[in-house]
Amino acid sequence: MTLPQPKTKIQAELLRWFNKHHRDLPWRKTKDPYAIWVSEIMLQQTQVATVIPYYEKFLKTFPTVRSLAKAHLSRVLKVWEGLGYYSRTRNLHQASGMITNRFNGKIPDTLKDLLTLPGIGRSTAGAILSIAYNREAPILDGNAKRVLSRLFATSGNPIRGETEGLLWQLSESLLPKGRAGLFNQALMDLGAMICTPKDPKCIKCPLCDFCKAHASGEPESFPLKKVRKKIPHIKAVSAVIRKDGKVLLRQRPPKGLLGGLWEFPNWPIDGKKDLMEYLWLKVKSDLGLEVKGKVLLGTFQQTYSHFKLTLSVFQGKYLDGEKAGSWVPLRKLHSLPLSRIHRRISESISYRGIDKKSD
Ligand code: ADE
Ligand code: SF4
Repeated sequence: MTLPQPKTKIQAELLRWFNKHHRDLPWRKTKDPYAIWVSEIMLQQTQVATVIPYYEKFLKTFPTVRSLAKAHLSRVLKVWEGLGYYSRTRNLHQASGMITNRFNGKIPDTLKDLLTLPGIGRSTAGAILSIAYNREAPILDGNAKRVLSRLFATSGNPIRGETEGLLWQLSESLLPKGRAGLFNQALMDLGAMICTPKDPKCIKCPLCDFCKAHASGEPESFPLKKVRKKIPHIKAVSAVIRKDGKVLLRQRPPKGLLGGLWEFPNWPIDGKKDLMEYLWLKVKSDLGLEVKGKVLLGTFQQTYSHFKLTLSVFQGKYLDGEKAGSWVPLRKLHSLPLSRIHRRISESISYRGIDKKSD
């Protein structure tokens, strides 16, 4: 396609800006495609500042694709704990096995092969190809989408197919030969540092002279806002059941939401039931346990991508019944992978400790 703007100028100005102002990020100090792949997966839906310590710990623990493939998923989940979007961990782990077996331990260097790996979409594949292998592959992550839709003042909803297709074409046609990796990273940094969602700093922007959104006087009105659906609010109850310095935990099934993570037994509630009564009823019917000394521990909230959760947590002491889950010693809690809300619950009980006298 022909660009409505001077393409070579845009390339030159952006690369010049990047050369001077690029962020100093740990995954930019390596040429190892494995490390770059790990960084790109972590950076999906997650800010750079959050990712950095996780990236460093992850590469120290699993320095090669083979070491990752050999590890147990729960060890990988433990290193990932707190970073969120846990299906990324399962995909990364599964993909490491596929890379070891099918691609002889080498991260694929073609779009077709990369797209066969779980967790890698077109934009992540483009980032890996361009950054690790310097192939001319475009990206279209959130930052690139925002910058390009502003630069060319694209109309229409960015998540609708037509605009998305146009933005992909723009991203591809702008790539400078031999410098796609730098260009793509420059696009991401410009989006993160200058062309930010709410207050784009157009006076500092190297693309200001070419930018249609800037010329319109309302750069922040691009891209057209998605109509955000209100996310549902789910309420649930959870039980911390104690027995001789141990607490009862269950592991979630490996697939699906928070797959493979451990948690205190919990049940969603609907309507205005008596929370405490409902919880101990469930403990009896689902876990087959009798409990004494029941008290409220607290209410915990967490917002996930698709819902908000309020968890009312009660504590009690094991009295009688079948084992239904795993009794985990309090001092071992830190070594199991827990989702963030359950980690917060576990911290609140380790902080309080176990009240020996009342046991
Ligand atoms: N966001 C996604 N990938 C990135 C990268 N390689 N550098 C900076 N931000 C990013
Ligand atoms: Fe973004 Fe403003 Fe630069 Fe346009 S001029 S790309 S709106 S920062």
